Amino acid sequence: MQDDVAVLRSSGLAVIDGAFASRRHAFDFAVHVIDRCCEEARRVPLEVIGDFVIPPLNGPISRDFQTLHLDFGLPIDPRVDQDVGVYTALYVADVGQQAVAQTRLVSLAGLLGQRAWPAHEQLVARLIAYGRTHGAWDDADGYSEGSLARIVEAAAGLVPTLPSVKLDPGFLCGLEFHTLSAELAFFQLHGLDVEGAATSVQLAPGGLLIFDNLAVAHGRRGVRQPGELHQQVIGRRGLSPTAQVAIRDQVMRAFSHAPG
Ligand SMILES: [Fe+2]
Repeated sequence: MQDDVAVLRSSGLAVIDGAFASRRHAFDFAVHVIDRCCEEARRVPLEVIGDFVIPPLNGPISRDFQTLHLDFGLPIDPRVDQDVGVYTALYVADVGQQAVAQTRLVSLAGLLGQRAWPAHEQLVARLIAYGRTHGAWDDADGYSEGSLARIVEAAAGLVPTLPSVKLDPGFLCGLEFHTLSAELAFFQLHGLDVEGAATSVQLAPGGLLIFDNLAVAHGRRGVRQPGELHQQVIGRRGLSPTAQVAIRDQVMRAFSHAPG
């Protein structure tokens, strides 16, 4: 376990492949690793704030990719107490078919550091303005953004091109792109080479992946069978807007890793 803690701390992700007989064993192990990894979690334990099966056991097979995102989103303009995901644990169950999907993991600092950005205050202003015109469902609830593409579009400050829940109430978040190549092309247009900052993990049944949800964006390449992926999001429940802003400002330091 000590190695897993060190790897998670240094790289933002840890893979423990094929080792667990059940999701309970896997997620118990994940909580131990996270508690040891996160200094703050030792003082105030993190909680499981989300527990999902993807796709649901009796649902259809997933589509063949998932856009890059942060679970529970990054608080941008918080107005109310909200849960914030800090770590995510993924466990692959044996559903009788080969698990072919790869989890795509993209270091925020590694990606955003590929180009220059404005100073922090201007970036925050751009992100908040984007939420008012393109991002938030309801301004009274504030604005959190889960889509990495939207965060980049907001930070770039150009005319937005992605579909918007504000302009199209029927739009479903996560469906910004029809194909993986369209997503990669979007980032390329913003001067960002996703593949250059990405790690792919293909878990076999029994495998566990833990990652820092606020340092690493994640998505998927390939389909998942119903009941295949079990996910727990471990974080802080009911954080105040002030505490959310502190997390936002910490995460947005990834923008300041720009080349000189
Ligand atoms: Fe996710």
